[in-house]
Amino acid sequence: MNSFNLPGFWVVIPAAGVGSRMRADRPKQYLRLGGRCIIEHTLDCFLEHPQLKGLVVCLAADDPYWHDIPCARDVRIQRALGGLERSDSVLNGLQHLVELGAAEDDWVLVHDAARPNLAREDLDKLLGELADDAVGGLLAVPARDTLKRAGADGRVLETVDRSVIWQAYTPQMFRLGMLRQALAAALAAGVAITDEASAVEWAGFLPRLIEGRADNLKITRPEDLQWLEQRWRNF
Ligand code: C5P
Repeated sequence: MNSFNLPGFWVVIPAAGVGSRMRADRPKQYLRLGGRCIIEHTLDCFLEHPQLKGLVVCLAADDPYWHDIPCARDVRIQRALGGLERSDSVLNGLQHLVELGAAEDDWVLVHDAARPNLAREDLDKLLGELADDAVGGLLAVPARDTLKRAGADGRVLETVDRSVIWQAYTPQMFRLGMLRQALAAALAAGVAITDEASAVEWAGFLPRLIEGRADNLKITRPEDLQWLEQRWRNF
């Protein structure tokens, strides 16, 4: 499908996390990759898309890094305040979209700040497959390895049937009104929410899994960044 035939969409990038597993001197989205910050690469894929209606980045209140990167002067990028948890940051971002004029049934894509290798073909696949969906869904990757359930002592309790297990990636794509309500209700109920889909599931809906590329990885550990650096150098 031609990109211009895909639905219009808004984007929320939660970027208020610390990323402690990277053991770096700054939040991981500000680490360098190919001469720019990770978050700049993350934003590229959306900013280049003809169907983008608007984009909000959710930043920590005391973020000292954003102002020093070129993105900070890009008028297409709006800012919202991050929250205590990822879901609080996303809710603030969604509220900001409402203030920008987004409608309840507009599509919103939520994407991790530290997931800089999203392919345009995956973004278009997500938009195309879900354009007429009643619920929405997410990019995901079927589990590849044999999976083990661990006991407290670090020994294997059992081998899990991997044929029905998927890893949840981003972007995750839902209607603004439904996602806002689901997130707010789940937070009010004290439910642990680690991605947008889990809030939508908790609200009783069944998000669709759209198979994406495994290399749309979230930079989490130092070796993830090394792997991507190496890969980009060889292209
Ligand atoms: O820590 P993790 O990699 O799971 O975070 C996923 C995304 O959520 C990151 O982009 C991170 O910056 C963001 N986040 C946030 N606000 C928080 C915690 C995480 O925006 N309070």
